[in-house]
Amino acid sequence: MTHGSTALKKMARGNIASQADRHYLYQESVQDTEAEIDFVENTWRSLRDRPAELLREDFCGTGNTACEWVRRDRQHYAIGIDLDSEVLEWGQLNNLEQLDDDPYQRIELLQENVLDAHAEPADIVLAMNFSYYLFLERADLLTYFQAVHAGLLDDGLFILDAYGGYDAPKVLQEERECEGFTYIWDQASFNPIDSMMNCHIHFEFPDKSRMEKAFSYYWRLWTLPEIRELLEMAGFSQVTVYWEGTDEESGEGDGVYQPSEAGDADPGWVCYIVAEKL
Ligand SMILES: C[S@@+](CC[C@H](N)C(=O)[O-])C[C@H]1O[C@@H](n2cnc3c(N)ncnc32)[C@H](O)[C@@H]1O
Repeated sequence: MTHGSTALKKMARGNIASQADRHYLYQESVQDTEAEIDFVENTWRSLRDRPAELLREDFCGTGNTACEWVRRDRQHYAIGIDLDSEVLEWGQLNNLEQLDDDPYQRIELLQENVLDAHAEPADIVLAMNFSYYLFLERADLLTYFQAVHAGLLDDGLFILDAYGGYDAPKVLQEERECEGFTYIWDQASFNPIDSMMNCHIHFEFPDKSRMEKAFSYYWRLWTLPEIRELLEMAGFSQVTVYWEGTDEESGEGDGVYQPSEAGDADPGWVCYIVAEKL
C-alpha cells in the first residue's frame, strides 16, 4: 500500500463529524425520555385519581419524549409543538414514522409557537431541557406560563425541569463520554448583570474531528424562586419542586425526585417543577 492511498483512506474515514447527524447525537447524549416519562407517570398517579391521556410536549424538537408517551399506553395521545420545521421533519421521519401503526395514530407534531398553540386542552404539558429559559424577560415567561395554564384541563399538570447550582453561571466546558462520541457542554459566557448566557453543545469523535456548535442557546439563567413566583402569578394553584435524592454510596444523585422545600447547595443540580392548574 502506498502512502498516498493510506492518506486517501484516512481522509475517507477521517472525518466522522462531517457525516454525523446532530439530532441523533442530541437524543443519545442529552435526553433520557424513559426516565422523564417515568417521572411524569409516577407524579400523575400520585396526584390524580384518573388516568392521563393527552400530553402536550412544548419545544418538542424531534418529538422523542412524546413518542415515549404514546408507546407506553393505548390510551395515551400526544401533541408536540416546535417552531422549527427542520427539527420537526427530522422527528417525523426518524421517530414518529418508526413507531408501530397504533401509537403512530396517536401522535401529532405541530409547527407553532408555544405562546400561541392551537392544541386541544391537555392533561399534561411538558417543557423539558430548560427550553423555556429562551424567554428572556419576566413578562414573556409569564405570558408563556399563562398560555400553558389556559391550555390545560382543570385538573391538568404542567411539568418542567430547571437547572442551577454554583457552577451554572460559570464560564466552563464539561465533557461526558457517550457511546462513540464525546458530548461537550460549553457555557461560553455569562453576564451577571442580566443573567443572560451563551451556551453551546459540541460533539467530538474518536478521530478527533469535531462538530462545533451543533446547538447554541442564548438564554437566561432563571432561579427557582423566580420560576415559582411566575407560575403562581400565571394562576397555578400549587407549585412544587421535586428535588433529587442522593445515593449514599456514590454521593451522586439517585434519580429519585421527591417534593422538597430545601435542597443541597450543589455545584450543579437539575430538578423538576410540577405546577397544578387547580
Ligand atoms: C433545547 S431544545 C429542546 C428539545 C427537547 N424539548 C428536549 O427535551 O431536549 C429547544 C427547542 O425549542 C424550540 N423553540 C424555541 N422557541 C420556541 C417557541 N416559542 N415555540 C415553539 N418552539 C420553540 C426550538 O426550535 C428547539 O427545537
